[in-house]
Amino acid sequence: MAKSDVVIKAKGLQKSYGKTEVLKGIDIEVKRGTMLALLGPNGAGKTTTVRILSTLLGFDKGTVTIEGHDVKHDADAVRKVIGLTGQSAAVDELLTGRENLVMMGRLYRLTKDSAKARAQELLEEFDLVKAAERPAKTYSGGMRRRLDLAVSLIATPPVIFLDEPTTGLDPRSRIAMWEIIEGLKQKGSTILLTTQYLEEADQLADQIVVIDGGKVIAKGTAKELKAKVGKDRLELTFATDSSFKAATKVLGTLVQESDPDEKTVTVVLKDTNADVRTVLDVLAKEKLKFDAMAVHKPTLDDVFLSLTGKQVKEEA
Ligand SMILES: Nc1ncnc2c1ncn2[C@@H]1O[C@H](COP(=O)(O)OP(=O)(O)OP(=O)(O)O)[C@@H](O)[C@H]1O
Ligand SMILES: [Mg+2]
Repeated sequence: MAKSDVVIKAKGLQKSYGKTEVLKGIDIEVKRGTMLALLGPNGAGKTTTVRILSTLLGFDKGTVTIEGHDVKHDADAVRKVIGLTGQSAAVDELLTGRENLVMMGRLYRLTKDSAKARAQELLEEFDLVKAAERPAKTYSGGMRRRLDLAVSLIATPPVIFLDEPTTGLDPRSRIAMWEIIEGLKQKGSTILLTTQYLEEADQLADQIVVIDGGKVIAKGTAKELKAKVGKDRLELTFATDSSFKAATKVLGTLVQESDPDEKTVTVVLKDTNADVRTVLDVLAKEKLKFDAMAVHKPTLDDVFLSLTGKQVKEEA
């Protein structure tokens, strides 16, 4: 039988803890060789979903298959094709980075020699060679995440689950991690990643599923989701009250919002290039000078806000 194009498939997934419904019917499909981001705020149900999809947790209703194997009835077959890095990791603090990798290799039944060779490969790939002989407890947050991911990749799984791989990392480590994750996709893995960072989903994912309160509230590409919330905006800031007032007046109905405190005027752009030109022409004709000008593209933050009425909490 030919392998299906859809590698990760969840349909009508429901899960309760006692009376608390945590997942209220989630549908997810991830196509071969692509990356899907499951995006949502704290408590949305991301970890619960990932744990179910990776056989670590049971569920009440729905069906889940990974590479055609049913997670309920064929969990062993599922475990053979997946790798998982989670918020609670499999790294042993007291062992060195290298020892962790070799040990996991042995668990996956690699021979001693191939476990060692694979460990060396991963240490190089994840830039951990210098720290290889130090206990994991001495690692920085970024190194720790890289080791965590390396450990889960010992057996080069074709399906990878990453639960908030960059939460708590500094910006530089986050970008390094993005590159590693991108590399996994390029090697052909099918990836489901959870994140609270809209920017991360935007950067990495082919498809985004937004969940909130255990329900899917939107899905699509970053571009499609952004298109839902609307258009580019032009923001003009003026140096003086009089120029601000005059500009608000001459721009008339083009103005969507004007803020007297900041002396800014916001115009919604239907056709970005043409409309910016129109605005600048109007101002030039009246000899009105602005201080600063910026075109804002809609972000996934805007998407989330418009879908849920809530801002996603971003970590500093
Ligand atoms: N063992 C449990 N018993 C009871 N409720 C639980 C249990 N595990 C999770 N929950 C609840 O399920 C909901 C979803 O939790 P989950 O960990 O899946 O969210 P999340 O999207 O991963 O959040 P975060 O971004 O904080 O990691 C939360 O309201 C949580 O309190
Ligand atoms: Mg979580």
